[in-house]
Amino acid sequence: MSQKNEFTLQQLLERVNSRRRSGDAGSDRVRTITARIVGDLFRAIDDLDVSADEFWAASDWLSRLGASGQMGLITAGLGFDRLLDIRDDEADRAAGRATGTPRAIEGPLYIAGAPLSRYEARVDEEGEQIPGEVMVMEGVVRDAQGRPVAGALVDVWHANEKGRYSHFDPDQKEFALRRRIETDAQGRYRFRSYLPPGYEIPPVGPTAELFQALGRHGNRPAHIHFLIAAPGQRVLTTQVNLPGDTFIDDDFAFATRDGLVVTLEPGTPAAGYESLGISAPFTRVQFDFTMQVARDEEESKPLARMARAVG
Ligand code: DHB
Ligand code: FE
Repeated sequence: MSQKNEFTLQQLLERVNSRRRSGDAGSDRVRTITARIVGDLFRAIDDLDVSADEFWAASDWLSRLGASGQMGLITAGLGFDRLLDIRDDEADRAAGRATGTPRAIEGPLYIAGAPLSRYEARVDEEGEQIPGEVMVMEGVVRDAQGRPVAGALVDVWHANEKGRYSHFDPDQKEFALRRRIETDAQGRYRFRSYLPPGYEIPPVGPTAELFQALGRHGNRPAHIHFLIAAPGQRVLTTQVNLPGDTFIDDDFAFATRDGLVVTLEPGTPAAGYESLGISAPFTRVQFDFTMQVARDEEESKPLARMARAVG
């Protein structure tokens, strides 16, 4: 009897990775990447003697992960988001354009289309009881030559006092703690909010399950996100960290960067900040952003990661 359909692991892998419909349909890039990942997994299963029950439990976990919308938590927690930043940094160094404010991960919690204002904004909700220490963050957006960038769009978002983000938290108003600010003629922006606490992944769900099994926490230190765009400038996605947080050097998403830990100036007098509703000393954060020149129009588009990748 012929042995046409009895395979070893290696023979099966070759068949999986070489099978094609006749003609040239499909994508070579997708084929190459799929072949590599499937091959690596075949070998991992074999090397680690992964049982059928372990494989199907993992398959069930992945199905639940997809259904839960927590894919972006896992990519951050397993270091992929930071990996992409490391690779972009390396490419910048190789191209002689490693300048400006360091990039930091976007994270999975950005929402496009926040309310827009010029020069200044209240990022916290006016009229509500302030659930934290009043903060004003302000500074200038600059280009690579240090010149102010007028009309830059500064998109800012952060967690509330419970460490949760609007849109993903049904208890918050639409776009709560999310604003866009257009810099003035001198490239300045400023906003009022409150010092956010750190963030913790949802305690129940596929992400928490994996992290429990790994013996890892799911905490991020206190941070504020930015996505900054201007014509001719490369979009800058970054975060600043507030100093003093327990998790500042132990971020579950590995996103802290040494150049992005801000200084707090507590007790700054209220004078000059009346238009932000401030009448008592507050905590000030001064931070200038420096952008890179965009190499092409694509790089300057004010797009978040998913909009850039899949439209
Ligand atoms: C995650 C949460 C964040 O607030 C963030 O900035 C990055 C990642 C997360 O849950 O994965
Ligand atoms: Fe965040």
